[in-house]
Amino acid sequence: MASNKSAFVDDKGKPLRIADSAMPKPGADDIVVRNHAVAINTIDPAQADGFLIKQYPTVLGHDLAGEVFDVGSNVKRFKKGDRVIGHARQFLTGQPEDGAFSLYSRVPAGNAAILPDRFEYKQGVVLPLAIDTAACGFYEEGYMQLELPSLDAKPNGRVVVVYGGSSSVGIAAIQLAVNAGYRVIATSSSKNSNLCREAGASEVFDYKAESIAGDIAKAVGDDQFVGLFNAIGIPESFDVVNPIMEKLNGGFLANTKPPGKLPSFIDAKFVLCIGDFGFPVWENFITKALESGKLKCLPEPKVVGKGLDSLQEAFEVRNGEVSAQKVVVEL
Ligand SMILES: NC(=O)c1ccc[n+]([C@@H]2O[C@H](COP(=O)([O-])OP(=O)(O)OC[C@H]3O[C@@H](n4cnc5c(N)ncnc54)[C@H](OP(=O)(O)O)[C@@H]3O)[C@@H](O)[C@H]2O)c1
Repeated sequence: MASNKSAFVDDKGKPLRIADSAMPKPGADDIVVRNHAVAINTIDPAQADGFLIKQYPTVLGHDLAGEVFDVGSNVKRFKKGDRVIGHARQFLTGQPEDGAFSLYSRVPAGNAAILPDRFEYKQGVVLPLAIDTAACGFYEEGYMQLELPSLDAKPNGRVVVVYGGSSSVGIAAIQLAVNAGYRVIATSSSKNSNLCREAGASEVFDYKAESIAGDIAKAVGDDQFVGLFNAIGIPESFDVVNPIMEKLNGGFLANTKPPGKLPSFIDAKFVLCIGDFGFPVWENFITKALESGKLKCLPEPKVVGKGLDSLQEAFEVRNGEVSAQKVVVEL
């Protein structure tokens, strides 16, 4: 009989403890996944240090890829044995069974998609949280209100600017917007401009260039500017983002950190990675788009180790400098 193991956080700042754990039971709309790869996001070590933790002991982790082990009674899109990627919900529920850092985890079917055979789990696992974070900025009520992505989107003459296009979240934002017909102008360091282009950005500007605000305004030209997605979000980023927004005569800004006080020409909202706003993308787009090559598994995984024991080291790697890669542990 299958048995579970998890990486528990027993208290704020304590090292992870690997121990036997309960086998998750799916709710009616959930699946249970036997994880083969998990990715580490900045929020994971932050949660391990106590950030918005609901209860101890807990099990962290958002991004997972593996095989479906069990399905809830309402679930029609998945069956046992399917290869999937998904976004686990411990951040909302606080329940250990909903954390990705286990051998078996529970995930809402609405936050999961089949991973085509040609992708390895370590490739697919880079996507889930990044897609949901971009989806919040684009589709959540009161946010940018972009069209949903599809396989046959035509250019719509509207422009989205993605600041931090080479970050995991930035790459996901580029891919969702481009696949809905928007022209995307991105920023990154010059070494990562090709990565932004590979994701679909039409123009990429180095955020360290003095002329960046004017360059971006010129690139937008007469097309309609819909909004700026700031995938970096930190206070320093506004030294560049504010002049860009000013040159574009202001508008909507989706920000990956609470934005603080900004000039009145910026209508800024904080994006949060967890919610139901991504469900249509998960249900109708991700699998077909991966199959057709419209959605790419980017950035590349940086595999730190194998097994739950490697997670602690992976947290340390994630806390260091990571450029154009996603920290991954295989299970
Ligand atoms: N609110 C949420 O729910 C949520 C969810 C996910 C992530 N986040 C936050 O979103 C941000 C991005 O997360 P991620 O996982 O996508 O990051 P990531 O993949 O680790 O992003 C790394 C990239 O960020 C760029 N970067 C770093 N410092 C920068 C700066 N000062 N100015 C401009 N670019 C800079 C670098 O690009 P170059 O190498 O090209 O310079 C680097 O490649 C993080 O701050 C994270 O905490 C928030």
